Amino acid sequence: MSSIYPPLETERLILREFVESDWQAVHAYASDPVVVHYLPFGPNSEEDTKNFLLTQIKMRRKKFRQHFAFAVTLKSDKQLIGSCRISITNPDKQEASIGFCLAKDFWGQGYATELARKLLEFGFQQLDLHRIFATCDPKNKACMRVLIKIGMRQEGYMREYEFIKGEWRDCVLFAILKREMIHIQLLSIA
Ligand SMILES: CC(C)(COP(=O)(O)OP(=O)(O)OC[C@H]1O[C@@H](n2cnc3c(N)ncnc32)[C@H](O)[C@@H]1OP(=O)(O)O)[C@@H](O)C(=O)NCCC(=O)NCCS
Repeated sequence: MSSIYPPLETERLILREFVESDWQAVHAYASDPVVVHYLPFGPNSEEDTKNFLLTQIKMRRKKFRQHFAFAVTLKSDKQLIGSCRISITNPDKQEASIGFCLAKDFWGQGYATELARKLLEFGFQQLDLHRIFATCDPKNKACMRVLIKIGMRQEGYMREYEFIKGEWRDCVLFAILKREMIHIQLLSIA
């Protein structure tokens, strides 16, 4: 029995559950070496992308759902421009991580910031989380900037933490607490 979440909506985006027929749009960016440079996967083969989608769809069937992956689509023309996720890493601690990836043509227009804010809202309000974190390569300046813009704070720096694409890479840990998010929302209303 699959639990499908209703789409999440932002000003310009719809974040919706994946369907199998998304594979070509996902493959267009997941097979791009520039897009996946800082990511642990890719560049994808067609089979990798199809397996990714099947895994996302399969994970919806779990009784207690811990992983929520969304296709990032434009409200204006429904085009799929990327993916994002929020994954409960520790249910007892009400903790989750987020991640996101966009096709290159859509970088630099504020989309990642917009979707990441929505992931935080979804996590704190609908999943009742206490803490949400994200990690990234310190060389990935765009990602670091997004994490700072959504109100996360740097908590750690892990040296040579992950072996990605043939080399050990450093990793920065960012996080935000529910009470900090409420504070940010109050500030934006004031
Ligand atoms: C990281 C990523 C999601 C950012 O998406 P985006 O939609 O371009 O992000 P936004 O437009 O919301 O914000 C990007 C910010 O980074 C800044 N930025 C971009 N490149 C930068 C660089 N080389 N140095 C410093 N800042 C940079 C932008 O100026 C912007 O900040 P600003 O609004 O203060 O000007 C996108 O580059 C991507 O998909 N990369 C590949 C996958 C990936 O690395 N995902 C993150 C894994 S942790």
